[in-house]
Amino acid sequence: MVTSVEMPTGQARPATSVRIGPVIEQRERRRTTTSDGLRLPPGPGFSFERLSGFRREHLPWMMRATARRWPGVAYLGLLGRHLYLVSEPELVRQVLIADGRKVDKGEALRTANIVLGEGLITAKRELHLPRRRLVNPAFAHARMAGYSTGMVDAARAADARWQDGQRVDFAREMSRLTLDIIGRTVLGADLDAQWQHVGKELTLALRGWEAMMVPGGAWYLKLPLEAPRRFWAAADNLHEIVRRILAVDTGGESVVDEMRRARDNGAALDDDALHDETMNLMLAGHETTALALTWAFWLLSRHPGEAAALRESLTDALGDREPGYGDLRELHRAYAVVAETLRLFPPAWILEREAEQDLTLGEWTAPAGSTVLASQFVLHRDPRFWPSPDAFRPERWLDADGRFSEENPGVPRGSWYPFGAGTRICIGESFAWTEAVLVLAVLARRWSLRVDPEHRMALHAAITLRPAHGLPGVLRRAE
Ligand code: HEM
Repeated sequence: MVTSVEMPTGQARPATSVRIGPVIEQRERRRTTTSDGLRLPPGPGFSFERLSGFRREHLPWMMRATARRWPGVAYLGLLGRHLYLVSEPELVRQVLIADGRKVDKGEALRTANIVLGEGLITAKRELHLPRRRLVNPAFAHARMAGYSTGMVDAARAADARWQDGQRVDFAREMSRLTLDIIGRTVLGADLDAQWQHVGKELTLALRGWEAMMVPGGAWYLKLPLEAPRRFWAAADNLHEIVRRILAVDTGGESVVDEMRRARDNGAALDDDALHDETMNLMLAGHETTALALTWAFWLLSRHPGEAAALRESLTDALGDREPGYGDLRELHRAYAVVAETLRLFPPAWILEREAEQDLTLGEWTAPAGSTVLASQFVLHRDPRFWPSPDAFRPERWLDADGRFSEENPGVPRGSWYPFGAGTRICIGESFAWTEAVLVLAVLARRWSLRVDPEHRMALHAAITLRPAHGLPGVLRRAE
């Protein structure tokens, strides 16, 4: 039987809808047990014909269609791998939190250590906990006030260089901005002067990492071809950039300065570990927030009423002043816009865990060695919890007095987790909120983006969820 799952093509959509996905058809798999007798949950069958037409932009929509059709636990058996997609909030929490000791990071993140070394993102469980304890203090709430100055200064630098009517790829602009912020706050280095070089190498390294995630990817990267060669060169160049950053001890207040002091005070963090953590933070902290801001400005460009409400709220709270850390608690609508953006377009759109022991997922058993997937994109757009799940509605995060809280939508725990959950939850969560809200407060008040009318917005779903073709448009200074 072929079932068509309702998923509009992007034409004829209501003005508030932000569905940009295709219609997905899924055929039920016939096999219900493996050759060694394992009972399998239901799920889609894959045919060569469908896989050959597969495009990365369809992946999140396919996951969502799968979760709708086979709710709870769906089995995706692909190329000899056992993949279990969980789509109940309690199961998501079970895998990420309660069963945290029975699982570890999946293959995609682990193989990233070829580029990133052994840092927080890639570390196996045993190495992770002591490392996390060492790095945590640099991301404590109390440190955010200090970092917020660098965030606002970088946003003001963007404001100063932008011109009314300037054509830009907004995704690139946001990438430059968040790289500048990471330089000022995390690395204690001026990256803006060399942003094109660093940005290009980071992009190439990320694409190589993505190639590694595809079956046969590690093998492909060893071939004497131009693309793999460029990837390894980019990884080498990034390591060189990190070495140069670490060679200069500014004695400042950056995250790297904090880690360096911990090392000098005898903490279990040698030079290699410091190098790898710096590399991890540079990569993890740059692209995710750049994407959140890119998606936020795209959504605001499609919803001029929301953009105007945001501008008005910022002017009410700040007048003509630049925002500062002390203003954050008054910027409710900016928080709501960031939350609604992270709901619709979570930059980390899917989490992967490998079972080290058998896991009981409801009535099913995922055997040791299998992979469990929990997708933010799927849960964040689940109509059981989110009314009009595809609509951009920042007000769902505001109470009757216009105050923001992550509790306001009243959704069950496990249906909202843009930063993950459990021991591997994003270390940069407060950093990212502070950064995104302050950047919006500086730039969305003064600028809007007129996206090229012929631009086709499509997703590119790999490690992160990004616009497949950037975000070309014209900057307009707000009246
Ligand atoms: C909107 C922005 C961001 C999003 C959506 C995001 C999302 C996430 C998610 C979902 C994870 C967990 C991955 C997993 O469980 O497999 C994670 C981990 C991590 N993130 Fe973020 N992140 C953001 C910004 C940042 C920033 C600004 C930094 C640093 C400056 C950062 C550094 C890290 C690190 C080091 C980890 C690994 C943590 C660990 O395992 O202990 N992230 N992030």
